[in-house]
Amino acid sequence: MYQCRLGTLKLFESMDEGTFRCLVHPDFSPVGWHLGHIGFTEGLWLLERGAGMPPLFPQYRQLMAQDGLPKHQRVELPPLPEILDYISGMRSQVFESLKTANLEKQERIWRFILQHESQHTETIAFVLQLQKLAMGRRDEAIGQSPEFATQAVPISAGEFEFGNDGFDALDNEQSPQRLYLPDYTIDPYPVTCEQYRQFIQFGGYQTRDWWSSAGWDWLQGAQVTQPLYWRNEPAFNHHPVCGVSYYEASAYARFVGKRLPTEAEWEKAACWDPVTHTQGIYPWGDEFPTGDRCNHDNQQAQTTPVNQYPRGVSAYGCYDMMGNVWEWTSSWFAPYPGFKPYPYPGYSHTYFDQQHRVLRGSSWATRPWAMRGSFRNWYHPWMRQILAGFRCAGGSD
Ligand code: AVJ
Ligand code: FE
Repeated sequence: MYQCRLGTLKLFESMDEGTFRCLVHPDFSPVGWHLGHIGFTEGLWLLERGAGMPPLFPQYRQLMAQDGLPKHQRVELPPLPEILDYISGMRSQVFESLKTANLEKQERIWRFILQHESQHTETIAFVLQLQKLAMGRRDEAIGQSPEFATQAVPISAGEFEFGNDGFDALDNEQSPQRLYLPDYTIDPYPVTCEQYRQFIQFGGYQTRDWWSSAGWDWLQGAQVTQPLYWRNEPAFNHHPVCGVSYYEASAYARFVGKRLPTEAEWEKAACWDPVTHTQGIYPWGDEFPTGDRCNHDNQQAQTTPVNQYPRGVSAYGCYDMMGNVWEWTSSWFAPYPGFKPYPYPGYSHTYFDQQHRVLRGSSWATRPWAMRGSFRNWYHPWMRQILAGFRCAGGSD
């Protein structure tokens, strides 16, 4: 919890008040709101619900609760130092409560709270990226990479272990099941800027044939001609495409005669070892993520070439299944058999509405506590602000 908070606070170091309360896009609250909401949620679940305490700092409840205010009203925030006091005051009480808490019984909620902070920190990171983009500030490409072969990896038919019932499993990852998948193929890398440029140059954004009807409808309204975080310079050729909607990802896949993987296909390719018949927590096994395995936790603060992390390769030989960019899958966000809402239906259950697609993996901004092969992220298919790319699959799904 302590390490996680250090990384959260680092993003706010020497931040000015304008950045702190900026509403850069109507769908995303100001970064300062996310910071307060992290503290609020911790108090709600660990102190109020967990330890039966009366609400601490009730004056912030309406502002910081998930269901308190519409996003555009979340700009009226107290100054940064006051929010820092608020969340550190909350944190002292939480540590105080540790002395008497029944940790064995409460392990799941503590792990939930750690992941909740991690997820909001990622949102803070991409909202800051959006603000940079709005100001026209762009980073130089980092990382170098030689040419590499991109032949699809064959995955033979068979069962694997899908889902997770560990202590850190969120409600939507349970219950695990043995699942049979027929033969399919999956690309060893996410789609790169160099590859995606072909789609742009061949008129992908103007050609109806590649798009689903929902995708084409979206495109007519959105009027976009390239990914949101598009970089056209050769130095980014081997970086993954970042800032595409689900619709763009599936249009590209059709353009190259492929398709997006289902989330089950993605998870098998990432974590199943066909030789030992075991499922790893991560593509490389069970060791907690470190900077040599994948690009995560804001360490690089941008994308890196897709073949930069050979120590993070999966048993099937897929690169970058953790870190760099989230990957759209063709799956709707839906419950697994035996789903039970936790800790509240509004966490996952509300989104089982056939309006959200699953993303797998993680991005350069994902904190390590919210990373694992079974982790499911979800967004509306038209969402482009998140740090999302994709990889393609082949064979019938
Ligand atoms: C799973 C990332 C879509 O940020 O909206 C945070 C996670 N839920 N607080 C989000 C979440 C409640 C959620 N995502
Ligand atoms: Fe939240």
